[in-house]
Amino acid sequence: MDFQNFDIDQFLCTYWQKKPLLIRNAFRDWHNPLEPDELAGLACEEEIESRLICQTDAGWEMEQGPLAEERLAGLSESHWTLLVQAVDHHVPAVADLIAPFRFIPNWRIDDVMVSLAADQGGVGPHFDQYDVFLIQGLGRRLWQIGAHCDADTLLLPHEDLKLLAAFEPTEQWVLEPGDILYVPPGISHNGVAVGSDCMTYSVGFRAPSRSDLLGHYVDDVLDGIADDELYRDPDLTAQANAGEILPEALARLQQMMLESLSDPADFARWFGTFNSTPKYPDMDWRPEMPVAPEELRAAINAQVPLSRNPASRLAFIAGAKDDVLMLFADGVCFDCHGETAALARDLCAADSVVLDVEVAGSAAAIDLLTQLCNQGCIAFDSED
Ligand code: SIN
Ligand code: CO
Repeated sequence: MDFQNFDIDQFLCTYWQKKPLLIRNAFRDWHNPLEPDELAGLACEEEIESRLICQTDAGWEMEQGPLAEERLAGLSESHWTLLVQAVDHHVPAVADLIAPFRFIPNWRIDDVMVSLAADQGGVGPHFDQYDVFLIQGLGRRLWQIGAHCDADTLLLPHEDLKLLAAFEPTEQWVLEPGDILYVPPGISHNGVAVGSDCMTYSVGFRAPSRSDLLGHYVDDVLDGIADDELYRDPDLTAQANAGEILPEALARLQQMMLESLSDPADFARWFGTFNSTPKYPDMDWRPEMPVAPEELRAAINAQVPLSRNPASRLAFIAGAKDDVLMLFADGVCFDCHGETAALARDLCAADSVVLDVEVAGSAAAIDLLTQLCNQGCIAFDSED
């Protein structure tokens, strides 16, 4: 699926993280990648995160999935929506929707949530903390946007839903299949289905919070610090008032902390590992039978395409430490040099790649590929 009517550079400069943008007829060849009943089927599966939101006389109600088939079959004609997270992990055609958005780095991409709504269905007026591209897939939806919100914005009291207590739309549009609405973090929005079988694909982004960065990095650093590293002051001199904590002491204390957090290579290794941890770490994507190096060599020689598992998180950092390229794959860091560094770059650059036959001759490259295949991050395409 390719973009048309969409200028990436202008989008990044004027809209990304700044203001909403409606892009009409954004794709050259839009076709809806998933049928409504296929989405309903996913919402019944144990390992897939889903929600059903219904608007009833009693107010907004939310049911957490997995949902029973009978529950879905018994839904009313209107005022409900079904939301399924990370559909891209399970449906390759939905994963393909991310490709045109790869002008934003992979490490910022979260997942594709898909919703199916009956007439008038929606999740209610709210705001999200993350950027999202809302692609209208099937049917029509009225999208309204409003003011910027933050942690002080008043919400309706509800156990499960964070709905706005007040929502004043400033603009609204009815989206048709292939239209996209980009909504930056914090902008209030409300989507209401116009007619039945309304499907919306939310290509969602992620961004670490300061508290997550600090909390998790400090935990990691603490694991490597010995208990006997104490404040030392061999240069102590008598002070006028023994009750004062002097600025020199404070500066030395603060420095003691900051120096443990400030090594760029340590931070790079930690961040890459942290950021590549899978969204659903309990999902096991490993092949049923471990793959042997000979099979990989044969597949490379036969020029079989190698594809990334859409559920895998792959990224690399170059230049943080000497000539090492750190490859991160689902929370595991591989130090790569020379041939393996080139291979790591290729694996991270595209969803699918046909490797040069020379790779089959490199023991280090085959070793890396074997580990990645057996971790379930990549796989050679099967013949069917
Ligand atoms: C949807 O209803 O498909 C999208 C929900 C949202 O606004 O995040
Ligand atoms: Co939203």
